[in-house]
Amino acid sequence: MSKFGILTKLNFLQDIASALVAWVNPAIVHNLEKYYALKKVHYLSAIEDISGDYLEFGVFTGSSFCHSLRCCKNLLKLNPELDKTKFYGFDSFAGFGELSEEDEHPFYKDENFATSLKAVEKRAAGAAGGLGWRLVPGFFSESLKAGAENLGISRARIIFIDSDTYASANDALTFCIPITQQGTYVVLDDFFSYRGSKKAGVARAFDEFLENGGFEARPVLNYGNGGAVYVISEIKN
Ligand SMILES: C[S@@+](CC[C@H](N)C(=O)[O-])C[C@H]1O[C@@H](n2cnc3c(N)ncnc32)[C@H](O)[C@@H]1O
Repeated sequence: MSKFGILTKLNFLQDIASALVAWVNPAIVHNLEKYYALKKVHYLSAIEDISGDYLEFGVFTGSSFCHSLRCCKNLLKLNPELDKTKFYGFDSFAGFGELSEEDEHPFYKDENFATSLKAVEKRAAGAAGGLGWRLVPGFFSESLKAGAENLGISRARIIFIDSDTYASANDALTFCIPITQQGTYVVLDDFFSYRGSKKAGVARAFDEFLENGGFEARPVLNYGNGGAVYVISEIKN
């Protein structure tokens, strides 16, 4: 008898488990793991007493934005100061717009990301409870031009980059440089896209953000189909 005992005779159990895992839509797996990653980040920044706002770049139908509102509401007992967090969601609500050649990707297409600002506002209002939130429509190259201070944002507690391309992630992270502090959590969806290249997509934008902001970051966790979470561990200058 092998060391695995009866398990070697129960191939049908392995087959049932495998068939189930193979059947589940990868987008569902990704979103569930994203929800857990966001929950952990809200928790970690709550117990570290990190003050400031939540900024999500790439809101689409509002699923992760509403999830973050719920996570924060559920942590208020642990840290009542969290009720000062304001939630900002940035999106064109019209997809990616015109992409440069380097940002072209087989999946990042406008037809996959059509949505309506009104519908997302309604959803966020339902999830927010007493928390403050605001959706800022427009392509980042325009909507972020005025700078964080003009939108009333002085510090970022959590930054969530979920807009897929280099240009959009670069606009978002450049906007965040003046409001990033030690302990800011940065959630990067699609971190390994563009065939894993570090010279493209969100990975490139994040490297440039660290360099231009003078930040050191430590990896916290990975999630879903290529998501990564970092915490800003040091500000060099
Ligand atoms: C993957 S979806 C976001 C998903 C969302 N965070 C969730 O989990 O529910 C990407 C979104 O980024 C937005 N986006 C991409 N490039 C953009 C840009 N340059 N300016 C504004 N929004 C952009 C698209 O409109 C799309 O809604």
